[in-house]
Amino acid sequence: MKVLFLNGPNLNLLGTREPEVYGRLTLADIEAKVRKRAAQLKTVIDFRQSNQEGELVGWIQQAKGKFDVIVINAAAYTHTSVALRDAISAVGVPTIEIHLSNIHAREEFRHKSLIAPVCRGQICGFGLKSYILGLEAAVDVNGKEK
Ligand code: DQA
Repeated sequence: MKVLFLNGPNLNLLGTREPEVYGRLTLADIEAKVRKRAAQLKTVIDFRQSNQEGELVGWIQQAKGKFDVIVINAAAYTHTSVALRDAISAVGVPTIEIHLSNIHAREEFRHKSLIAPVCRGQICGFGLKSYILGLEAAVDVNGKEK
């Protein structure tokens, strides 16, 4: 099975970006740990990051037929992007929303996720573990659909 991990804007700055909120791991550190768990689960992953909404939309569109599940940390676009929501809905690849921080315990503008209604579920607040749980949920969702 193949899982596409997508990371939105500013996640390339992890490690130095507000470490009290997001921790000290870099995105490369997170990717390495996700890859290790994916190998245990016999799952192939692709791990990408973009600061551009259109690039993320393109990757979602291209996932159809190539990936079984998408795991997405859409970062700030979570709260603003109708385009990402429409892409997830249009493409129909099962998608899991993840966040490092607990968006519901932060500023009010982060409480609303525009992509949540078109995702299978949301995992937030567990730091690196949100990514690992996202991967495990992806394996679970895929197993139930086959
Ligand atoms: C985030 C939460 C978002 O509100 C924020 O804009 C991010 C990161 C998280 O992983 O906790 O950039 O998605």
